[in-house]
Amino acid sequence: MDLKLKGKTAFISGSTAGIGFATAKALAKEGANIIINGRSKNSVTDAVKRLEKEVPSGLVSGVEADFSYKKEVDNLLKKLPEVDILINNVGIYKSQSFFETTDDDWQQQIEVNVMSGVSLSRYFLPKMLKQNWGRILFISSECATLVPEDLIAYSTSKAAMLALSRGLAQLTKGSGVTVNAIVPGSTLTEGAEEFLKMTAEKEGKSKDLVSADFFKKVRTSSLLQRFASVDEVANTIAYYTSPLSAATNGAVIKVDGGSIGGIL
Ligand SMILES: NC(=O)c1ccc[n+]([C@@H]2O[C@H](COP(=O)([O-])OP(=O)(O)OC[C@H]3O[C@@H](n4cnc5c(N)ncnc54)[C@H](OP(=O)(O)O)[C@@H]3O)[C@@H](O)[C@H]2O)c1
Repeated sequence: MDLKLKGKTAFISGSTAGIGFATAKALAKEGANIIINGRSKNSVTDAVKRLEKEVPSGLVSGVEADFSYKKEVDNLLKKLPEVDILINNVGIYKSQSFFETTDDDWQQQIEVNVMSGVSLSRYFLPKMLKQNWGRILFISSECATLVPEDLIAYSTSKAAMLALSRGLAQLTKGSGVTVNAIVPGSTLTEGAEEFLKMTAEKEGKSKDLVSADFFKKVRTSSLLQRFASVDEVANTIAYYTSPLSAATNGAVIKVDGGSIGGIL
């Protein structure tokens, strides 16, 4: 399927690895111009090189900015060109008890997960409305509704992204711009691979067994009963950046392997 993304420019926050990098790859294959982002010049340069190698026809650039720091976000906005597609992907979490989660922990997760999307959308949405075309996607999480008890701050930030996404969609009425939220479930990123490897070593089990145990004991509601690959999530994201997805706006799209449940 041709997603008709040739010539469109996409900025993906937090895209040197994981779902963000896989999305960059999917969009580059479709002919979009990609702007990668991460916290350091080195990681960004390295990711740009990797993407250029994987998609030799791709037009890829990169810009470093740490979304924990407002000043870096302000500088980033000065550097970015106009974009047609904004993917608010950057997200951090800290697994800890609610009672041990400090104000700083809360603020950092809200700053990176929510305020990054607020700043970028406030800057780009008016431009998209002016050109009467644009796509904004917020990468939320199944945790927004599952709310694991060791991830209350993260889950709160991911639920906030859903309200933000819906609110911004309402500002696009009658235009060619759409704003949607994508809700991934447990996904096999480099970070998840590392976690499985470490747990396997610690418990003297195979990685496959640790992974199967996770779905048997922790993410029991998953219908998929395995981690989604980053490409499976990225393919869905790519579709919702496409002109082909014009009739979907203000929606929450689940790529959660069925973990959230419900018929809508
Ligand atoms: N993985 C999952 O199972 C899962 C499930 C549901 C939802 N999600 C959501 O999907 C999104 C992507 O998750 P992921 O697991 O693919 O992420 P990840 O692998 O942890 O992503 C790491 C990326 O984020 C960048 N990054 C981290 N902190 C940053 C900051 N302060 N400023 C700028 N960039 C930063 C890293 O860049 P550098 O290291 O180069 O600085 C790297 O590119 C997140 O919003 C996450 O909440 C993930």
